[in-house]
Amino acid sequence: MNVLGVVGSPRKKGNTDILIDEVLKGVKTAGSKFEKIFLNDLEIKPCQAECSDYCKKRGYCKIDDDMAPLYNKLFESDVIILGTPVYWYGPSAQLKTFIDRWYAFCHPRHVQKMKGKKFVLIAPLEETDKSAAQPLVNMIKKSLDYLDSKFHAKIIVSAGEKGEVRKDLQAMKQAYRIGLKLK
Ligand SMILES: Cc1cc2nc3c(=O)[nH]c(=O)nc-3n(C[C@H](O)[C@H](O)[C@H](O)COP(=O)(O)O)c2cc1C
Repeated sequence: MNVLGVVGSPRKKGNTDILIDEVLKGVKTAGSKFEKIFLNDLEIKPCQAECSDYCKKRGYCKIDDDMAPLYNKLFESDVIILGTPVYWYGPSAQLKTFIDRWYAFCHPRHVQKMKGKKFVLIAPLEETDKSAAQPLVNMIKKSLDYLDSKFHAKIIVSAGEKGEVRKDLQAMKQAYRIGLKLK
């Protein structure tokens, strides 16, 4: 089992990062392989919508940047953890830009490769009313449906200050358990 943790927050050791680490701790205990990437450390340009001529037909994106090696990483992963803070009721720009570049997956060669992959969504937010994360959850669910992938689990947790989520023992335990079961 290969697990890929994708941190879409710019804050290292922030709430998203901490929760992803906790899932990966469970993954490690379960004996599965894992890797974590920080989107904010990478140069990933926004989709330029060349796909009708290019990525959708040829199966790869024309833009030569740090997204290029991530396509194979995604194909090789059985489980992908998408982590993003709630920003204006949606994902961070880092995560949205990353997901937009999945348009290359519309190529028939790739549709099959994404089919059935499990996704975990991790989304901390400041508001105490967790329904503020619902537009984000809907966006991810719809996108995964489109790819025939599976929405496996989600952690939506109220935590505003950097690192505050550590105090939420229930959320930390939930994250660890999700990781532990990924085998
Ligand atoms: C640009 C920006 C937009 C935000 N928008 C929201 C929001 O719409 N709703 C909310 O509850 N929190 C919002 N927040 C707060 C973050 O979601 C929250 O602090 C989160 O825990 C940060 O996670 P991180 O530590 O992983 O970066 C926003 C924060 C920023 C910087």
